[in-house]
Amino acid sequence: MNNDIVIRGFGRYAPENVLTNADLEKMVDTSDEWIVTRTGVKERRIVSEGQFTSDLATEAARMALKNAGMEADEITHIIVGTFTPDHLVPSCACSVEQKLGIKEKAAFDIAAACSGFLYALEMGRALLTLHPEAKILAIGAEVVTHRVNFTDRTTCVLFGDGAGAAVLTKGGQGPKLMDVKLATDGNLGSLLTVSGGGCASTYKPGDTIRDDYFVMLQGREVFKHAVRSMTSICNEILEANGLTNKDVDVLLPHQANWRIIDAVGRKFEIEPEKVYSNVDRFGNTSAASVPLALSEAVDTGFIKDGDLVMLTSFGGGFTWASALLQF
Ligand code: UT7
Repeated sequence: MNNDIVIRGFGRYAPENVLTNADLEKMVDTSDEWIVTRTGVKERRIVSEGQFTSDLATEAARMALKNAGMEADEITHIIVGTFTPDHLVPSCACSVEQKLGIKEKAAFDIAAACSGFLYALEMGRALLTLHPEAKILAIGAEVVTHRVNFTDRTTCVLFGDGAGAAVLTKGGQGPKLMDVKLATDGNLGSLLTVSGGGCASTYKPGDTIRDDYFVMLQGREVFKHAVRSMTSICNEILEANGLTNKDVDVLLPHQANWRIIDAVGRKFEIEPEKVYSNVDRFGNTSAASVPLALSEAVDTGFIKDGDLVMLTSFGGGFTWASALLQF
């Protein structure tokens, strides 16, 4: 049997509701011109009433399973990267298992903010090393807009909701997951937070919601670290695999902001036409951003057979990561 770790199918899902920059102009003191110039975002998707992270994750998982030619019951492990689970308990992964109509699998969430999907890929790789027969669903899914303050113009224009998924096995047909690199710097955690509701920032019965319930970020600082960290971890994974930036056919970074994506592309010294972005249509969907873009890039033919694809992400923690896929 072929021992390579392979992605058998990709999937994605974004809610139907579109929130445009024109809509946001009516909600806060902002403009389409500011948002597009500073972020590249033109519109984002947001969930409808009663639609939760596990619903988005389940839709993306169904698409990935269909593309893998697999039944849900064949899956042995479900891993969901998210910071916006439906509940703290049960985990989002448990709800996905239930919604897929399966049971008695191993299912758990990963808290790595926007890097959640790449962390899930690495956990999938580790599990497949322990259990070569496993069939892993790795998902990144978020309802970020639940944790966004729609009266704060500095954050509410940035984010959107969505999900992406991949089915991993050892051997079989599909692109090879060659390597993953993960990193964290907890010293910088205070620059990007969602702290309200944690045991260091509790809510008692009757309390009103405070600002800390929502995403809070020091934009310029996060921007600088994002560019630096994603570029360096891309170079590290290339070096570890005896490759250079000239070998990379597609760079697919976390879709936080077009200026960050562009800056990473420049520092990584790759041609702009090799850099994939859909941030204009989805905004920053946190852990969903990489798998949502990846599934789209595969289906639209942006990624072709034979391509070496570099994924990279950066998020709260700080956490950051890179992964190499050989199509
Ligand atoms: O997923 C990983 C986590 N997130 C990120 O990666 C986000 C990283 N940071 C960024 O993308 C950028 O820093 C932002 C898009 C958040 C902000 O862009 P910036 O170029 O760093 O702008 P700034 O924060 O320095 O603000 C510039 C000005 C300020 O006004 P003054 O002080 O110069 O008068 C802001 O008050 O723009 C103002 N501003 C806005 N104006 C209109 C901030 N937000 C808005 C807005 N509309 N929505």
